[in-house]
Amino acid sequence: MIVATTIEDVKKYVKEWKKQGFSIGLVPTMGYLHEGHASLIKRAKSECDKVIVSDFVNPIQFGPKEDLATYPRDFDADCKLCEELGTDIVFHPEPSEMYREGFHSYVGVDVLSSELCGKSRPIHFNGVCTVVSKLFHISEADKAYFGQKDAQQLAIVKRMVRDLNFNIEIIGCPIIREEDGLAKSSRNTYLSAGERKKALVLHKALTEGEKMVRAGEKDAGKVIRAVREIIESEPVARIDYVEIVDWNELQKVDIIDGPILMAVAVFIGEKVRLIDNFIVE
Ligand code: PAF
Repeated sequence: MIVATTIEDVKKYVKEWKKQGFSIGLVPTMGYLHEGHASLIKRAKSECDKVIVSDFVNPIQFGPKEDLATYPRDFDADCKLCEELGTDIVFHPEPSEMYREGFHSYVGVDVLSSELCGKSRPIHFNGVCTVVSKLFHISEADKAYFGQKDAQQLAIVKRMVRDLNFNIEIIGCPIIREEDGLAKSSRNTYLSAGERKKALVLHKALTEGEKMVRAGEKDAGKVIRAVREIIESEPVARIDYVEIVDWNELQKVDIIDGPILMAVAVFIGEKVRLIDNFIVE
């Protein structure tokens, strides 16, 4: 496995692979890899000749009061996992490599980015779109793999690719959960043992919401109230949002009569903000 830290290095290998007609899969990550990431790498490996995993904590997608400085990192463990899974290149650049002096170009997707997490994280999705655009160009990947846990991110990246005619296919992959239902996330490491147990309320609430929708409940308000009630029964949980939006434009719906995303963001304790969701197509 190659560990590349410069854009030039990655491009050199990509050029060679393209010459030989290999297909390329990209798995963009911010490192601290867990089974959710592993599932993306395995899927990429099964569908592409070569797999590039980017391991880069992207500074421009963090707001000034967010957890950029403390975001968990363990590059050695990431490399070990990537190697075990047959990754061809781990791309691990410094921020100064990705954002050289005089960097002034950004990519953004209107409308979808102002909803859900966009309300409390106004710059986040422009930072994501910018870095993934760069990674798409650098890797020249045929396919890129994203987890459904960040459903809004998945919808936005798909829209960007469609609107701006990127030559890449975006593959959304299912949420990977712990045995007890908690969605895997690098940020779960911030939870104390007690908080970890209490965080299960997200999955419990969403399971109830999904059951209602699948049983035919059309009143979005009713489903939202039921989900909120379960989350609010847990005193350490503080709701950022609980919403049902259409799985296209990500706009709030009152009546469920097409594909929807039900998404929640909840603070567990003072600082840890977790997201989770379900989609009914
Ligand atoms: O989902 C993430 O880990 C990040 O938002 C991504 C897509 C790697 C961009 O930095």
